[in-house]
Amino acid sequence: MSHRVQFPADFLWGAATSAYQIEGSPLADGAGPSIWQRFAHTPGMMNNGDTGDVACDHYRRWKSDVALMRELGLKAYRFSISWSRVLPAGRGRVNAKGLDFYERLVDTLLENGIEPLATLFHWDLPAALDDRGGWLNPDIAPWFAEYANVLFNKLDGRVKKWATLNEPWVVTDGGYLHGALAPGHRSKFEAPIASHNLLRAHGAAVQAYRATGKHAIGIVVNLEPKYAATQSAEDLAAVKRADAYMNRQYLDPVYFGTYPAELREIFGEAWPEWPAEDFALIKQPIDYLGINYYTRNVTRYDPNHYPLKVGSVKQHATYTETGWEVFPQGLTDTLTWVRDRYGNPPVYITENGAAFYDPPVAENGVLDDPLRVSYQKKHLAAVADAIARGCDIRGYMAWSLLDNLEWSLGFSKRFGIVHVDFATQQRTIKASGRHYSQVIATNGAVLNGAEG
Ligand code: BGC
Repeated sequence: MSHRVQFPADFLWGAATSAYQIEGSPLADGAGPSIWQRFAHTPGMMNNGDTGDVACDHYRRWKSDVALMRELGLKAYRFSISWSRVLPAGRGRVNAKGLDFYERLVDTLLENGIEPLATLFHWDLPAALDDRGGWLNPDIAPWFAEYANVLFNKLDGRVKKWATLNEPWVVTDGGYLHGALAPGHRSKFEAPIASHNLLRAHGAAVQAYRATGKHAIGIVVNLEPKYAATQSAEDLAAVKRADAYMNRQYLDPVYFGTYPAELREIFGEAWPEWPAEDFALIKQPIDYLGINYYTRNVTRYDPNHYPLKVGSVKQHATYTETGWEVFPQGLTDTLTWVRDRYGNPPVYITENGAAFYDPPVAENGVLDDPLRVSYQKKHLAAVADAIARGCDIRGYMAWSLLDNLEWSLGFSKRFGIVHVDFATQQRTIKASGRHYSQVIATNGAVLNGAEG
C-alpha cells in the first residue's frame, strides 16, 4: 500500500471465537448435546478423532482468557452462545447455569473495558431440535426467536451488538449439501430449504429484537469474491453462479427480499416456490452487517462439479494451511462491492485471519509466526483502503483469539493470534498477537511504514 492507513477514532478492534470451537465441557451443568457434539463423536467425521470435549477449556478458564484479552488490549470480543447450554432441549426450559456462564463472561468483559459482541448461532444447533428436522423444519424460525428472546431479556444493554447467525452459507453448504460439517447431510433438495429456514429464523429473531432490544442486531456472512479464470462465456457464467450461491444467497433476501435468479438454475427441480410472505419476514431492517473474509476464488466452468458446475484455478501465490490463497485485495473488493450493492451499510469485519504452520514456542517464550503477521498487515491495509474509498467500516475482529477446534479439521489448523498447547492448556501470545496489540494501541498507525 502506498498511502498511509488511517482508521476512525472509535474503530472497534477485537478478536473472535465460537462456543463449540473453544469452550469444552459441552454437557456440563445441565447443557444438552448439540449436533456438533454428536457429529464429533461419530467415527470418521473428525480429523484425528478430535472433539470439542475439552477444546480450549474456555468454559472453565474463561476468567484467565478475559485477562489475556485485556493484556492484548482488545476493545471488543466476539463470541457465540451455545443454544443447548441455555435451552438444553432447544426450546422450553431454560438452564440457569448455562445462561449464568454467559452473564458472568459478559460482566467480566465489561469490567475489563472490553465490549462483548454476541452471536446467537455459530453452527451448534441443539441435537433435540435436529431430531425434529433441525433447519429443515419451518418451525425453527419461532424456536430460534424464542431462544433469542431469552438472551435479549437477560443481556441486552450489557450486550449492545448482537448477531443472529454466523455464516448461514457454511451451515447449508457443509451441513446439508456436501456433508463435511454437522449434521452431515448430502442433499440438493435439503440445502435450499435449510437456507430458507435460516433466513426466516434470522428474520424472526430480528423482529423479536425490535420488540425488546434497544441496541444493534445484524447477521454475519462469509463473502468470497469470485474472479473469472478467463473471459470465456462459460467461465463468466460460472462466476455468476458461484457469486450468487455464496455471496448473494443470503444478502439479497435480507436487503432486497428476493433470491438471486441463478439459484433456480443451480438447484433446478430442487428449488421450491417460496411463499411471498416469507420475504417480508426475512427482509427486516438490520443495524449492521458482519463480514467474514478469508480468501478469494478464481473461478472456471467445471461440468463435473455438483451442482454448481464451477471449479477453481490455482494461482502463483501464497496459500494458507487450509489451502486458501492470500489475497488482501479481495477484501477491499468485497467491501466496496457491499458498499455499492447494499447501500453502504455499517460493517464490522467479524472474522479475518489465517491458519499457518506454527513453529513450537521457543525457550524464551516467543512464537514467531511471520506469515500470519504479514497476512494481518496486508488485510488491515486492505480494510483501511476500503475506508478511504468511503466504506462504512466500524470494526475488525481477528479470527481467532485462540488456536481452536477447526470443525471437522480438528486441532490440525491453527488460526489463533494466541497459541494453545492442547496438552497443557498453556496460552502463548504469538508474534501476530503482539503485533495486533500494537495495531490496537496505535489505532493502526503502526501499520504505516511497516512492510507486509
Ligand atoms: C467460521 C469459523 C472458522 C473459520 C476458519 C469461518 O468459516 O466462522 O468458525 O473457524 O471460518 O475456517
